[in-house]
Amino acid sequence: MKGLILSGGKGTRLYPLTYTSAKQLIPVANKPVLFRVIESIRDAGISDIGIVVGDTANEVREAVGRGDRWDVNVSYIEQNEPLGLAHAVKISEDFLGDDRFVMFLGDNVIEGGISQLIAEFAHSDWNSQIVLTRVDCPERYGVAELNDKGRIERLVEKPKNPTSDLALVGIYMFDNSVMEAVNTISPSWRGELEITDAIQWLVDSGKAVHPYLHRGWWIDTGEPGQMLEANDLVLEEIDYKIEGYVDRDSQVGRRVTVEKGAEIINSVIRGPAIIGQDSRIVNSYVGPFTSIYHHVVVEDSEIEHSVVLEYSRLTRISGRIQDSLIGRYVTIERSPIKPKSHKMTIGDHSQVGIL
Ligand code: G1P
Repeated sequence: MKGLILSGGKGTRLYPLTYTSAKQLIPVANKPVLFRVIESIRDAGISDIGIVVGDTANEVREAVGRGDRWDVNVSYIEQNEPLGLAHAVKISEDFLGDDRFVMFLGDNVIEGGISQLIAEFAHSDWNSQIVLTRVDCPERYGVAELNDKGRIERLVEKPKNPTSDLALVGIYMFDNSVMEAVNTISPSWRGELEITDAIQWLVDSGKAVHPYLHRGWWIDTGEPGQMLEANDLVLEEIDYKIEGYVDRDSQVGRRVTVEKGAEIINSVIRGPAIIGQDSRIVNSYVGPFTSIYHHVVVEDSEIEHSVVLEYSRLTRISGRIQDSLIGRYVTIERSPIKPKSHKMTIGDHSQVGIL
């Protein structure tokens, strides 16, 4: 089998972070979401992976390379315009050949691996397997209606009046019959070739499409709130280890990872939390559900339930930073210069909540 990862899109709902970085490269518990996707495909025994890239092609290529780090072979497929998930399959025809494949959206995070699911499909005679899960707002997703026997009856992309709460998770498995489907369907109202329509075409053509019901959590990390939620959930799943330095005046909880070269000085870290490589936490409090990425400095400050990206500095901040997503090379500090006021240089589309 092969793997196809979709890693295009502008990530507008994550501006300003995605002005300078692909959304799939934003880390959750200090590992880019895209890397987690590559690992789960690799762990299912797949070594040929194609990544469909768009505007952020260069960053993705630079971060992933040829896949040596994961012992897989990565090829890149350029999608010049975001014309839909089925369009991404269409342009990947040369890469996919006649192989069965799993398609995984590069911004999806799912509980546990998918190895078993893929192995099951690899040895089945199904033409496709889709992953469904119950959600609160089905109108935001593609949804599936099942009949009494649990077979798929109908699939609708972002229905206005949903008749099912079973959303299509961004993981799909196909054999080559999907090629005829993606070449036959027409663009939807949003001008995209929808994978949901391609799957409906398979169902209508009498192909075997198996619905798998996922019972754990699943997050599509398109917005800041979802990014923080994914961070919460993944922080609870990781193995905790202390590889950096913790001084005698600090208290570090059981569910905390301190990566290599990091230093915790006279500080309290309550888990689940992760402190990245070469970061320094000095005279500070880092509360639960916080991921501090590499080369960050937190000094004389308090932070909780937040994600801080590389090379940022938080110093002498009064009040606690909470529920925040802080980008790269950001400086937040209490200014000693009068007048006492909020002084900011903030990028377009930033959101700041002030006391
Ligand atoms: C896409 C699919 C949708 C699916 C969702 C999962 O939506 O079209 O069927 O439920 O991914 O993340 P989009 O992200 O394009 O809105």
